[in-house]
Amino acid sequence: MIKVNENFLKMQDSYLFSTIAKKVAKYQKENPDKKIIKLGIGDVTRPIVPKVLEQMHEAVDEVGKSETFRGYGPEQGYEFLREAIVKNDYEKRGIKIDLDEVFVSDGAKCDCGNIVDLFGTNNKVAITDPVYPVYLDTNIMSGRTGKYDEKTGKYEGIIYLPCTAENNFVPELPKKVPDMIYLCFPNNPTGTVLKKEELAKWVKYAKENKSIILFDSAYEAFISEEDVPHSIYEIEGAKEVAIEFRSFSKTAGFTGIRCAYTVVPKELKGYTENGEEISLNKLWNRRQCTKFNGVSYITQKGAEAVYSEEGQKEIKENIKYYMENAKIIREGLDEAGIKYYGGINSPYVWLKVPNNMKSWDFFDLLLEKANVVGTPGVGFGPSGEGYFRLTAFGNRENTEEAMRRIKNTLQF
Ligand code: MLT
Repeated sequence: MIKVNENFLKMQDSYLFSTIAKKVAKYQKENPDKKIIKLGIGDVTRPIVPKVLEQMHEAVDEVGKSETFRGYGPEQGYEFLREAIVKNDYEKRGIKIDLDEVFVSDGAKCDCGNIVDLFGTNNKVAITDPVYPVYLDTNIMSGRTGKYDEKTGKYEGIIYLPCTAENNFVPELPKKVPDMIYLCFPNNPTGTVLKKEELAKWVKYAKENKSIILFDSAYEAFISEEDVPHSIYEIEGAKEVAIEFRSFSKTAGFTGIRCAYTVVPKELKGYTENGEEISLNKLWNRRQCTKFNGVSYITQKGAEAVYSEEGQKEIKENIKYYMENAKIIREGLDEAGIKYYGGINSPYVWLKVPNNMKSWDFFDLLLEKANVVGTPGVGFGPSGEGYFRLTAFGNRENTEEAMRRIKNTLQF
C-alpha cells in the first residue's frame, strides 16, 4: 500500500496566491463586465529589457548551429554568469565570494524550498511573522513542525518572530534558540528593512548559537536608502553563518524566464549528531548535481546581460518605474488617510486595514467595491492580521486607476 507523506496533511488547503487567484476568478466569472486590477501577487509587468533580449537571441542562434550547440550545462551554472555575479553583486560591495560558492538556479522560491533537504528534521525553525509562505510550508512538508492550531494560526514547533508596527517590523532575538532562521530583507510582505547594525545582531546571535541564517535578498535591487545592507555578507562574519538567496525575477523581470542564484560559503558548517563539522557547500553541490540539471544556456546568457553597462541602465529604468508606482500607492494611501509601511526600499506597501477590519474582509471589500486585488496580511501569518499588501509591480495606468478606486471606496 502506497503511503503518503502525512506532513502534507498538516498544511492549509492551498497556497496563498492560488487561493487568491481562485477567489478572483470566481468573482470575474460572476461579474464578466468588471475590469479587475491585480496588485496582489508580486509579479512584474515590464517587458524584458533590450540588452537581455539581444543576448538571448544570440544564444538562440548559437544553440541552432552544430559548432556552438550546447547540451547539459554545469549544474552550478556557467562560469560566465557566476563570474558576473561574483564581480558585480559582491566584489563591488567589497565582499569576496568564490565562484564555487555560487549556485545558479531556476528560482529563489525553489532554492528556498529545496535548501531544507540539507538539514535534519529535528532542527528548530524560526520565521518572521508575517512571512513569505514558502519558508514555512516547505518546513511543514519536510516534517519540522507539529500540527496547525486554528486558534493561534500557528504551527506547533515553529518559533514565530512577530514583525508589526509595534516593534517597527524589527524581529527580536528569540529566547528559545532556533537552528534555522529565515530572514528576508527588504521584507516580503511588509516592505520594511533591517539596518546594518540590526542585521549584525542576528549574525552574532547565529554565530553564538551555531544556527544558520537563510537570508532571502530577492528585493535588494529596490533599496534606495544608505545603511541598508544589500547582502548579508556585508556584515563581518556572515559567511560563517548564512546562505543567501538572490533572484533575477524582480530585479530584471525574470519571473517568467526563471533565473536566480544561491550563495553557500565554504566557511559555513553544519553538524552531525556527533558534533562532526560538515561543509554545507559540499552538501548543496551534491544535492544540486543529483536533482538539478542547470538553467538553460539561453536564460543564463540573458542573466549575464543584466550586468552589462546597457543592461544595468535598462533594468534600473524599470526599477525606477516600479518605485514610482510605489510612490503613487503611498500618496494615494496618504490621501485616503490610511497608515502604511514599506514602499521606499521595496516594491511592497504594507497598509494597516482601516476601521479594525480583518484582512480577508478588506480583501473582499476591495475586490467587490473597487475591483482591485491585493493580498490579505493574515495570509502571511497571524501577525499579518489587520494588514494588507499592495504591490508596485503593476503598470502605471492600472496603479493610478487602482488608487483612485481605493480612495473612492474608502470614503465610507
Ligand atoms: C509574492 O507575491 O510574494 C511573490 O510573488 C513571491 C514570489 O516571488 O514567489
